[in-house]
Amino acid sequence: MTSEPSEFDGFQKIREEHRQLRGLLEQIETALTERSGSIDAVVDLIGQLGHQLTKHFQTEEAGGYFADALYEAPQLVNRANDLMLQHPKMTKSARNLADAADPNTDPERWWQQTTERFEAFRAELGKHEREEDQLIQEAYIRDIGSND
Ligand SMILES: [Fe+2]
Ligand SMILES: [Fe+2]
Repeated sequence: MTSEPSEFDGFQKIREEHRQLRGLLEQIETALTERSGSIDAVVDLIGQLGHQLTKHFQTEEAGGYFADALYEAPQLVNRANDLMLQHPKMTKSARNLADAADPNTDPERWWQQTTERFEAFRAELGKHEREEDQLIQEAYIRDIGSND
C-alpha cells in the first residue's frame, strides 16, 4: 500500500478533528451538568475548545475548504460556501461562552448562563459538522462514481 497523501487523507484528518471536538464538547457538557469541578476548570476547558476550533477551521480553510472534491462536484459549492461563512460566527460564540455572569458575585447564575450558552453553541456546531461530514461523503461518493 502506498501512503501518498491524498484528498481522502485530508478528509480523514477533518473527520478525525470532528471526533476530537465532539470528545471535548462531551467533557465540557459533563463538567457543566455535574458541576464536579471548579469554575476555573470549566473556563480552562472552554479555552481549549476555542483553540481547537480555531485550529480546526484553519485546517478546513487551508485545504481550500474541500476545493478538490468540489471541483468534481460543482453543484455542492454553494452549500460549502454557506458552511464556511459560519466559521467566524462560531469562533466568536466560542470565545463568548465563558463571559456569562460574574462568577465571583453570582456563581449560580454563571453556571446557568454558561450551560445555556454552551447548549446552544453545541447544537450549532453539531449541525455545522454533520453537514460537513455529509458534504464530504457526497463529494467523495461522486468522485468514486466518476472513476468507475
Ligand atoms: Fe467547518
Ligand atoms: Fe468541521
